[in-house]
Amino acid sequence: MQFEINDNKSWQRSHFCSRLNKTHIGQDVILMGWVQRRRDHGGLIFIDLRDRSGLVQVVFYPQISAESHLAAHQLRSEYVVRIEGKVAARPEGTVNPNLPGGEIEIQVENLQILNTAKNPPFPIDNDTDAGEDIRLRYRYLDLRRQVLQANLYLRHQVCHLLRNYLTENGFWEVETPFLTKSTPEGARDFLVPSRLNPGNFYALPQSPQLFKQLLMVSGFERYFQIVKCFRDEDLRADRQPEFTQVDLELSFINEENIYALIEGLLQEIFRHCLDQELSLPLPRLPYQEALDRYGLDKPDTRFGLELTDISALLTNCKFQVFAFTLDSGGQVKGICLPGCAHYSRRETDELTQTAKSYGAKGLAWIKITEDGAFNSPIEKFFSHEELSAIQQKLAAKPGDLMIFVADKPATVAKTLGNMRNQLGERLNLIDKSQFNLLWVVDFPLLEYSEEEKRWQACHHPFTSPKESDLDLLESQPDKVKARAYDLVMNGSEIGGGSIRIHRTDLQQHMFGLLGIGQEDARAKFGFLLEALEYGAPPHGGIALGLDRILMLLSGSGSIREVIAFPKTQSGTCLLTNSPSDVAKKQLDELHLRALK
Ligand code: AMO
Ligand code: AMP
Repeated sequence: MQFEINDNKSWQRSHFCSRLNKTHIGQDVILMGWVQRRRDHGGLIFIDLRDRSGLVQVVFYPQISAESHLAAHQLRSEYVVRIEGKVAARPEGTVNPNLPGGEIEIQVENLQILNTAKNPPFPIDNDTDAGEDIRLRYRYLDLRRQVLQANLYLRHQVCHLLRNYLTENGFWEVETPFLTKSTPEGARDFLVPSRLNPGNFYALPQSPQLFKQLLMVSGFERYFQIVKCFRDEDLRADRQPEFTQVDLELSFINEENIYALIEGLLQEIFRHCLDQELSLPLPRLPYQEALDRYGLDKPDTRFGLELTDISALLTNCKFQVFAFTLDSGGQVKGICLPGCAHYSRRETDELTQTAKSYGAKGLAWIKITEDGAFNSPIEKFFSHEELSAIQQKLAAKPGDLMIFVADKPATVAKTLGNMRNQLGERLNLIDKSQFNLLWVVDFPLLEYSEEEKRWQACHHPFTSPKESDLDLLESQPDKVKARAYDLVMNGSEIGGGSIRIHRTDLQQHMFGLLGIGQEDARAKFGFLLEALEYGAPPHGGIALGLDRILMLLSGSGSIREVIAFPKTQSGTCLLTNSPSDVAKKQLDELHLRALK
């Protein structure tokens, strides 16, 4: 096909397709875009023309331009065209009142085919049954779909708003290095070999944590960055190996300042992007209460199904599983599932399997029949008074099913917390139009890792203990609370931060508690320890997970839907086919040898 690229023609479009409506009738327009589809109708040719804004109906009448009408026969989906024409009212009977441009059509006077297109491997439609692999393989076509364009526009809007809001609040945007040293945030590092320094490696930052603290030592007072972070961890729907943080740090502040700042920011985002008012201040939930009531430190508070501790009702319990667990310092907790007494044996067995998949040894259940009787394989071990007390404690009604897990508190919490989320979905208890945000506060400073047999920082090693708990650091490290906070939306952790340690002695002490010896600490974080000695101001900050926030705001099922070029669950890019092997020469230059 011959293309007539006439450089004399204006490349200036007069309008975006979807902006045209009946107020433009009679106007001359120049439009550019892609053919969504072509339909031939009684001698007329129709196309839906698509650009970034959406669609408009374009018609080729032979009597208006015979030449264009003839050329239009060649058009196929995804061809790129420029048209000149006139906006006209659609003939009666063809009006579509549901679309903004449904009352008009563009009558073409001149068609220019700018490029042809191969038949796409899947239709460029919002509803697609194309598998994710093929969509990611042809991501540039997938990104032509309006849902994804809307998601990326939302991303742009939120970033724009963020920059304005933070700038107005006195923040400076500063870039920090990607080729750097390990920044511990609990994941594995991605390493980059150094050609110029044989055998040495940079680590890609898991976060700009150390640099932002150094910027506070430098006296910047308020820093932010919309920044890529890299973590080599097992991937899930809400995790990518490279993801974006809205990272901030401030000097001379406390927790209250940070809550107010972030709440103001969220309010702006909700107002401008969703046209919704956030009710402020956001609720604050102590970590322990979150675990007690919801089993998880990132509770979805859009529905009930709270966990209830029945240990105190079981002092004379004859059921060995419960009695033994309580004797060995464990607990028994339950959830009441409304209207689920009809669950079949298969369904209760499935619940038991789910409980086991989270580490519980089993699951006990008691049904309350419609006429108020108890029905359970373990009923015989309990007196009627005990059963009634349990029912009362769980506020269970006839027709409800009560489920119980007996185990160590951590296992009970993990099992019932995760099952609660699943059951909330399954029982349709979640109002999807609702956004429930809250702060989780009063985290412990340290958690004991059974695997590594040592204390680990709950947030990261630079988080300050609460001043009032300082004297417990040696004697009862598990009792020390941190000045850390997480931001949770609809059961997803969308941000986390803390007030930092700004004194060298305390920071060194902290490394000691974490089993990082003095020499090791000097080698890994010497630059930070040294910097703290040169007049570090009290400081703190937070990082928001931008991708997760966008996933929730846009109602997407995965963060891949709000990232232009994401990786698969196994960390690969199907578009560029990376990671991939490299030539031996390149490895030689890097002083590396691949073992596989
Ligand atoms: P944290 O490790 O909690 O804190 O990270 C902050 C937020 O980043 C998001 N996030 C992720 N999003 C997508 N994929 C991932 N793999 C991923 N990992 C984390 C989460 C999380 O809440 N330096 C500290 C912040 C600070 O103390 O100021 C930090 O990185 O939404
Ligand atoms: P068993 O004595 O193992 O046959 O278990 C008797 C009942 O108790 C079964 O219904 C089990 O599913 C349940 N069960 C076993 N272990 C636990 C546990 N740790 N917590 C709650 N229920 C349990």
